[in-house]
Amino acid sequence: MKPSTLNLMLAVSLIVVLAIAALAHVDNARPNFEIHFGYDMAYSPAYGAYAPNTNFADGRTLQAPPAGTIPRGGELPLYFAPSGEDALRAGEVLTSPYSPASDEGKQAARRGGAEYTVFCTACHGDGGLGDGPVVKRGFPPPPSLLTGKSAQMKDGQLFHILTYGQGSMPNFAAQLSPARRWDVIGYIRKLQRKAAPEDRPLDAPAAAQEKEPGNSVQSGDAPVQREDTKQTETDSEP
Ligand code: HEC
Repeated sequence: MKPSTLNLMLAVSLIVVLAIAALAHVDNARPNFEIHFGYDMAYSPAYGAYAPNTNFADGRTLQAPPAGTIPRGGELPLYFAPSGEDALRAGEVLTSPYSPASDEGKQAARRGGAEYTVFCTACHGDGGLGDGPVVKRGFPPPPSLLTGKSAQMKDGQLFHILTYGQGSMPNFAAQLSPARRWDVIGYIRKLQRKAAPEDRPLDAPAAAQEKEPGNSVQSGDAPVQREDTKQTETDSEP
């Protein structure tokens, strides 16, 4: 074989090899070439969540959870009516998961402060006196959180108000999860403690604080009025 013929043959085989390599290139973005003898289970007929579906009576694919079921990791339902009586009952049966003197309790009150600024200050004012900007523009002023009934209410009752509202006060169930509601309640207690430290010592157990005399909500007496002026701006409490 003449060298020129050999070169030509080598060049042709190089081109052939490169062409085959290019054709055999695996493109992972495309499905493999397949030959189907009937589709069997190769493609699953899954419905889109919002696609119409004749298999269900209501014609929808996405079905509501069966009544009475609770999703895993979901919130347990509360069995209260949005009424004053049930607010009192909530005061008896619901207790804050945080004790105010514990580290968790202090952290909760601190988180609650941030939540209070976002959701409550507009009406109740920074200090809880009921003098927020919305009130200054004509909204019916809420009672003071420091000297009003809420100073005598039990934690569970405040929780009920945040969950179901009260009078012209909207509820905050959608904005604040139950854990965040307890944070805000911890912050309200902190404000009340600053206003009247002798009535609400930090180290007293929560139950003892609730049994303080003059619990107007339980007994129906006039609420004990404390002076707003007792509120101090010092942030000595951690
Ligand atoms: C839109 C204004 C508004 C906002 C925002 C608001 N409140 Fe109120 N709140 C009121 C009014 C008005 C009342 C009095 C309701 C009534 O009894 O008629 C009230 C009552 C209360 C009471 C009961 C006081 C009592 O003496 O009966 C508590 C506790 C309370 N609010 C806490 C909160 C907290 C905590 C937040 C934030 C998560 C909040 N409120 C946000 C307007 C508001």
